[in-house]
Amino acid sequence: GAAAGLGLLTARGSQATNQLAALVPSDLPLPARFTVPLPRPAQRSGAEISLVQRYAEQEILPGRRTRVTGYDGMYPGPTIRARRGAPVHVSVQNDLDIGTVMHLHGGRMAPEHDGYPTDVLLPHSGHVRAPLMPGNTTVGARSYVYPMDQRAATLWYHDHAMDFTGPNVYAGLAGFCILTDAEEEALGLPSNERDVELMLADRSFTSDAQFKYPALAPDQSVPGVEPLYLAGVLGDVMLVNGAPWPVHEVSRNLHRLRWLNGSNARNYRLELAPGGTLIQIGSDGGLLEEPAPRNSIALSPGERMDTVVDFSQYPVGTLVTVRNTLGAGPMDAVMQFRVVRDAHEDARVPDKLSQIEWLRREDAVRTRDFIFALQFGGGHGHSAAQARGGGFIPHQWTINGRPFDTETDWATPNYGDVEIWRFTAVAAHPVHVHLAHMQVLSRSSGAPRPSDAGLKDTVDLGPMESCEVIARFDGFRGRYVMHCHNLEHEDMAMMANFTVV
Ligand code: C2O
Ligand code: CU
Repeated sequence: GAAAGLGLLTARGSQATNQLAALVPSDLPLPARFTVPLPRPAQRSGAEISLVQRYAEQEILPGRRTRVTGYDGMYPGPTIRARRGAPVHVSVQNDLDIGTVMHLHGGRMAPEHDGYPTDVLLPHSGHVRAPLMPGNTTVGARSYVYPMDQRAATLWYHDHAMDFTGPNVYAGLAGFCILTDAEEEALGLPSNERDVELMLADRSFTSDAQFKYPALAPDQSVPGVEPLYLAGVLGDVMLVNGAPWPVHEVSRNLHRLRWLNGSNARNYRLELAPGGTLIQIGSDGGLLEEPAPRNSIALSPGERMDTVVDFSQYPVGTLVTVRNTLGAGPMDAVMQFRVVRDAHEDARVPDKLSQIEWLRREDAVRTRDFIFALQFGGGHGHSAAQARGGGFIPHQWTINGRPFDTETDWATPNYGDVEIWRFTAVAAHPVHVHLAHMQVLSRSSGAPRPSDAGLKDTVDLGPMESCEVIARFDGFRGRYVMHCHNLEHEDMAMMANFTVV
């Protein structure tokens, strides 16, 4: 039955997190750790931003060239810098041979700009190398309108094409969008080169230094890929901003470190060695009300954690390793900071950061249940395997017993209503809801976790756990999605529509 099957899958994954994910080993020797300098993504700002999705070669492993699928041919894509109240129009041109969908994760925008998984942008030729689920397609180029009418926050954009989000993001279609506002600017937090965005992602490489993904397209599919796909893909090379286990030189003062888990399926728990505190100042939906000192921070795929680290706690010459206590072997660390000089302090972390309008349980007009589970003996519905020409699929991820389809609404909240959504998982899943910014009310396993603080768009669910969140459904009407942010689970149909009516 179901339990036995899940046990099997779990055994393939990481024991530390009980995640359903499986390691794809690299075919080349792993690069040395803590030698490559941390790259800073290109920065873009303004009311009109254009991005061309194209293939490019990038030096990711020292002395080797890797083909990336990138926004402007870069991995990570350019960081979009935006300010609250100044809408941004992003025009995207598709120079690839696959269909794409751009989604601004954590952003609040009209449904037609949200990156619904079948609102696909096709290349100019109109031809793609793998069939896509039918939908509302555009050819060549389109623009996405982001009102930026929301709190300052660390957002990110990435591909969201139905059935292909896993391979497309793995190949490089992801970047940051950092939104600020007057309230945040007045705080005096570290800025400029001391405000550092960090995209964590694990990858594996083929012997010719190319990204190694189990099946990038039907013509590249390999036997035995189904269980891997069902599980979620783990790599054995840690990339931060596209560099393997990088090192970053810092002065002895405050630095703002914005962590993003941009991995397809890997969870992280980060700690500083030799010891030290990370001051959490924000989460997915922007600043916390007050800074929260942490010994470790947890990140499931899609989550962000905004922190400040005071490097004056270390003498000049200290190597501060960012360890990942959920990773084994070389994956037990993500990067290193090298404390290189004394510096004067011109930044601060005030005791009061922001205000959050807390919702109370009594504000909710409804509670809805969403059960995240594997369905055995599937074979109907649409999924990555079918899109890739694999035909029959033995199993499928579901929400409330259904794999994703474009016709069904799993929920129809009324505009302006506050609702409690109760997520229950058999196995671990990071649950992401578009549009709504959630507050975590409770967890069946105990009190809310530190990573639940503030406003959330992605909530990590443990195995056999229920988690209640509360949110107000406003801003826009229309159809959005919620899904598991393990990208292989998402591609294997663990996604649901909801329509704000
Ligand atoms: Cu980060 Cu629906 O995605
Ligand atoms: Cu999942």
